[in-house]
Amino acid sequence: MSGDLLRIENVGIAFGGLKVLTDVNLTVKQGETMGLIGPNGAGKTTLFNIVTGFLSPSHGEVVFEGNRITQTRTAQRVRMGIVRTFQKSMVFPDLSVMENLALALRARTHGYAWWRSGAALAAADAKALEILRKAGMADRAGRVVSSMSYGDQRIVDVLISLAMEPKLLLLDEPTAGLSKAEGEHLIEVIRTLCGNTSLVLVAHDLDIVFAVCDRVAVLDLGRMIACDTPDGIRAHEGAQAAYLGKGKEAVQ
Ligand SMILES: Nc1ncnc2c1ncn2[C@@H]1O[C@H](COP(=O)(O)OP(=O)(O)OP(=O)(O)O)[C@@H](O)[C@H]1O
Ligand SMILES: [Mg+2]
Repeated sequence: MSGDLLRIENVGIAFGGLKVLTDVNLTVKQGETMGLIGPNGAGKTTLFNIVTGFLSPSHGEVVFEGNRITQTRTAQRVRMGIVRTFQKSMVFPDLSVMENLALALRARTHGYAWWRSGAALAAADAKALEILRKAGMADRAGRVVSSMSYGDQRIVDVLISLAMEPKLLLLDEPTAGLSKAEGEHLIEVIRTLCGNTSLVLVAHDLDIVFAVCDRVAVLDLGRMIACDTPDGIRAHEGAQAAYLGKGKEAVQ
């Protein structure tokens, strides 16, 4: 398998007459942190929707751990280890942090039958607490999510995804709406907890992307115009032009 966890092969999709992705190729290696950047409407979320099975491509294949999963249902992909976060928070706002995490863990291990086993419930709770400790949030375990700061809510979002123990975690603008410090803290939490999970990070804050990603892929108008190390992308004229929408200013 040559260390490739995910391969996106010649993927294209159109909505009506509008081509949103054209012949997109991308490989994510085991344990790699891949940045995915591009202007608004470039197709980043659409690509996540294709990798997770929310959308079927018009052509092309998605290959995970060497297996074609292009037609595999989303729930099955989650079981295989492909998990995503959304641009908007998906937590239960009226439940506590601990309850949100424990629910995710119970559902992961026992599906809809989680309430049948007391031992399973206790194990899920213990695991939830361990995750909160690692994230430095054990003191807020009992807090109702809606009463927390927006930054902490975004952390809870990500913790729920990490609790699924994904092999591949797709993060769609996890730092959107956060201050620089909050964004950096969130990324630090992700890196502390992600272990050998491969990450694909969509973010508009290029400082963060370039600081934490092994490689960065650039989508522009549905085409993958570059995929390289952060230094390579900084020096890539096409990437600069696409991202900034103008001539030769450096990507900041
Ligand atoms: N279900 C859909 N039907 C029609 N058009 C869609 C659909 N989903 C996305 N699009 C269009 O596809 C294009 C790419 O959208 P997408 O959300 O993937 O961009 P993005 O790179 O994630 O942008 P942003 O940075 O703003 O989140 C946009 O022009 C969008 O309007
Ligand atoms: Mg998007």
